[in-house]
Amino acid sequence: MKRMFLAFAVVFATVFCLTGFGGKAEAAGGKILVAYFSYQGHTAKVAQEIAAQTGGDLFEIKPAVPYPAYDECLDVAKAEKNNNARPAFEGGVANMAAYDVVFIGYPIWWYDAPMIALTFLESYDLSGKTVIPFATSGGSPLSDSLDSVRASASGATIGEGILADGPGDVAPWISSLGYAK
Ligand SMILES: Cc1cc2nc3c(=O)[nH]c(=O)nc-3n(C[C@H](O)[C@H](O)[C@H](O)COP(=O)(O)O)c2cc1C
Repeated sequence: MKRMFLAFAVVFATVFCLTGFGGKAEAAGGKILVAYFSYQGHTAKVAQEIAAQTGGDLFEIKPAVPYPAYDECLDVAKAEKNNNARPAFEGGVANMAAYDVVFIGYPIWWYDAPMIALTFLESYDLSGKTVIPFATSGGSPLSDSLDSVRASASGATIGEGILADGPGDVAPWISSLGYAK
């Protein structure tokens, strides 16, 4: 009997150590996803830092049709906004239901979130989750994009987002949110 108890304790301890019952990302208030779209790489660096700081999983929103070079991209992005388009992205998040917190990152495009970020948000049932926007820009504020994020992340609570100059802005913000791993 004693041996059986010991064996049970060893198995329990091993499982606990290996999984931490879900990993560190869950300790600070749920399992975390860091989804981002980045055209030139700035937002990608911020996203990678958020994933490193929180222990969250990264998902890159890759356009099904890649955006053209900069000058043409300005026109394509403007047309998408004017047409309220929902450009498709490649692949998808395998198990969105498992996440409690979804960071969504993007560059500010034409004083708003790029339409593809809205495609992403509208592709999932985000109700009951916390959605936290982050962005990079040439100077436009994050607030320009918040109405769109709110409308597309229906049923989610929108957390305190950030407009980041770069990865260096991430640590104090993540710790103020209480999501540092
Ligand atoms: C199509 C397009 C539209 C943009 N519109 C804005 C804008 O309205 N305001 C702004 O401050 N920067 C604007 N920018 C600049 C980007 O927001 C900025 O360079 C951002 O950091 C790029 O992020 P990324 O490297 O992740 O793509 C725009 C850039 C592009 C390509």
